[in-house]
Amino acid sequence: MTGPAIEMAGVRKSYGAQTVLDGIDLHVEAGSVFALLGPNGAGKTTLITILSTLVQPDAGAVSVAGHDLATDPDGIRRSISVTGQAAAVDGVLTAEENLRMMARLSGFTAGQAKRRASELIDRFDLGGAARKRVTTYSGGMRRRLDLALSLVATPPVIFLDEPTTGLDTRSRLTLWDIIQDLARRGTTILLTTQYLEEADQLADRIAVLDRGVIVAEGTAAELKAQVGGEVVELRDAHGDIVRELPTDGSVDALRTAIDELDALGVTGGSIGIRKPSLDDAFLALTGQASSTSTAPTFEKEAVR
Ligand SMILES: Nc1ncnc2c1ncn2[C@@H]1O[C@H](COP(=O)(O)OP(=O)(O)O)[C@@H](O)[C@H]1O
Ligand SMILES: [Mg+2]
Repeated sequence: MTGPAIEMAGVRKSYGAQTVLDGIDLHVEAGSVFALLGPNGAGKTTLITILSTLVQPDAGAVSVAGHDLATDPDGIRRSISVTGQAAAVDGVLTAEENLRMMARLSGFTAGQAKRRASELIDRFDLGGAARKRVTTYSGGMRRRLDLALSLVATPPVIFLDEPTTGLDTRSRLTLWDIIQDLARRGTTILLTTQYLEEADQLADRIAVLDRGVIVAEGTAAELKAQVGGEVVELRDAHGDIVRELPTDGSVDALRTAIDELDALGVTGGSIGIRKPSLDDAFLALTGQASSTSTAPTFEKEAVR
């Protein structure tokens, strides 16, 4: 399939008085990995539930794999798989039984289903628990099983809602591998994440969603360029940061930074230049620190 795998135009959704999606336009090319990046409450899950036909938008047009949401939701359902539906997991069954059942439902023969189940058990490190009932699993194991289930079949379009949240590092890297592998074989993947690094690593294109609005869209490189080349750090005589300014690295920008240092009345201060962090990017694009930020905000820095 070439052309768009996912299209949204003017999609709106409110819950009561709260506008959750405020006019979303999306265009995702077939065979690409697209990341929807945004903090908690941005509307990521709402967008995924609309794309996967579970929730009706109040307005706007949606099509997935060439099927229109308004006229052919069944066509969409046949073309996708979705994670984050832990409800699909049958707690009385084991991981292996769940995976085999899902494979059979997806049209695999008994033999194929068995092979696919054991493959996924290996990849997601579920071996130790493969023959135990799911009700006995830890949260992390359920999460890995949920992901494995969503990847049993490989429909043309896969939605992954915060797929690596709550995963240990090893499972996260495994999942990144699987996602890249699927994309290479032509699957379209839309994933949501709160992690800039994850979007950067995986996605061909990234849309930044903030309070129901897409505030920026492009490749990782384009988004970073929008933020500016580097950051000038102004430090006081104790070496504490008093101000950080995005800069294009030009002499003029540096001069402005020095003027600023003067204006702040800092004596014995120093200036350094560093690459923008992903948190800088998020702050610049959304006006708020990313939820993964561990650095103090600029305001806090300034009062020190
Ligand atoms: N079914 C619902 N009923 C009422 N409010 C909802 C519902 N689903 C989501 N919301 C609200 O919509 C906003 C966005 O939620 P969500 O789409 O889950 O964001 P995200 O996945 O980015 O964290 C939140 O403020 C949330 O409380
Ligand atoms: Mg969510």
